[in-house]
Amino acid sequence: MRFAHAVPLAFAVCSAAFQFVHPGLLHTQTDFSRITTKVTANASPWVDGWYKLTNNSHSALTYTPKPVSSVCRGLNAGCTQNYGLLFNDIAAAYALAIRWKVTGTTAYGTAAVKVLNAWAKTLTTVTGNSDRFLAAGLYGYQLANAAEIMRDFPGYHKSDLKAMQTLLRRVFYPMNHDFLVRHNGAAINHYWANWDLCNIASILSIGVFTDNTTMYNEALTYFKSGSGNGAINNAIWKVYDDGTAQVQESGRDQGHTTLVMGLLGVIAQTAYNQGTNLFSYGDNLILKASEYVAKYNLGYDVQYTTYTNRKVRQTVISSSGRGSIRPIWELLYNHYVKVERAYAPYTTQMNLFVKNRSGGAEGGGGNYGPNSGGYDQLGYGTLMYTR
Ligand SMILES: *[C@@H]1O[C@H](CO)[C@@H](O)[C@H](O)[C@H]1NC(C)=O
Ligand SMILES: *[C@@H]1O[C@H](CO)[C@@H](O)[C@H](O)[C@H]1NC(C)=O
Ligand SMILES: *[C@@H]1O[C@H](CO)[C@@H](O)[C@H](O)[C@H]1NC(C)=O
Repeated sequence: MRFAHAVPLAFAVCSAAFQFVHPGLLHTQTDFSRITTKVTANASPWVDGWYKLTNNSHSALTYTPKPVSSVCRGLNAGCTQNYGLLFNDIAAAYALAIRWKVTGTTAYGTAAVKVLNAWAKTLTTVTGNSDRFLAAGLYGYQLANAAEIMRDFPGYHKSDLKAMQTLLRRVFYPMNHDFLVRHNGAAINHYWANWDLCNIASILSIGVFTDNTTMYNEALTYFKSGSGNGAINNAIWKVYDDGTAQVQESGRDQGHTTLVMGLLGVIAQTAYNQGTNLFSYGDNLILKASEYVAKYNLGYDVQYTTYTNRKVRQTVISSSGRGSIRPIWELLYNHYVKVERAYAPYTTQMNLFVKNRSGGAEGGGGNYGPNSGGYDQLGYGTLMYTR
């Protein structure tokens, strides 16, 4: 958050004391200018990431949204699971939004807005079993991101933007907030870190997207001092003296552990774009976790400390899903190595590994299988984050 300049005192009383940067969730205007320049110049690796995006069917002008009034996530929850409709459409809105922003071609902007409006006008409920809170967290931050890119598109009418803000404020935010406060009525350490983290990411993103300082601060405060497993010192709970740190889900499996790293990246990048540095928080805790998770998933041994809570006692790190491929590493690598000039050998190697497995550049939703895990993150990091 940056302080507004020269706000007259009389106005300072009734207007916000600071203003948010827009676009300012995962990407800023400076980022988009760099991306456009590089893609226009046909420069690698940006152009390789660009072809990943333009080749993905979610970014096609013919993409047709399939909005529903009630999204259901969770097996045997008394409703039919249909949340794939939402995560596919968000992947489309995000990809189309980037295509508009990078090329300036109106047709892509119109197509992105068509997807956003379809949901803003139709969706009223996110339901299911406890998994509904994952849906509210993951798709809340992602919807805000897709819409944030479209803010200054002339075809995104003020009333349409407002409708999306209302959807996020009335349907998503209350669930995000409720989860962080009540944790679905469970013991405080019942839910794994990623549940808190996606809900923190959603509150943070909706706060910026709707210019709500209270929400933005709520997310930051919980991240730094909340009591659930997503608060940073619980999510990254065991720091070693070799520059690595163990993650709360390390003993569970690597698919969820890499999800945790993806969400930490989203939260830190978003806050960074608003002038709050969480990347460096706690003596670079996120970097230490990134090094640990990358090192283990690349096949190297790591130290491990038994993790115990009310439900589990995990005496060894879990090799389930080891080598997990998620397009989340470009964000972490580019911030720490390119922006901060930090030493991050395993994050660097993991980023190369995932790029290689992705065919040369990180892809997005649709490039990593049809299931929800392939859509937990927005991806396209080679295009979006490379410096
Ligand atoms: C685009 O998709 C086609 C067909 O799926 C594939 O053969 C081609 O290699 C892809 N190109 C890029 C740049 O990803
Ligand atoms: C910001 O969000 C909080 C929490 O939901 C709400 O109470 C408040 O009214 C919102 N402020 C504005 C200006 O919308
Ligand atoms: C991935 O690595 C293998 C082995 O080094 C190499 O042969 C292949 O060309 C790489 N693929 C890409 C897309 O970089």
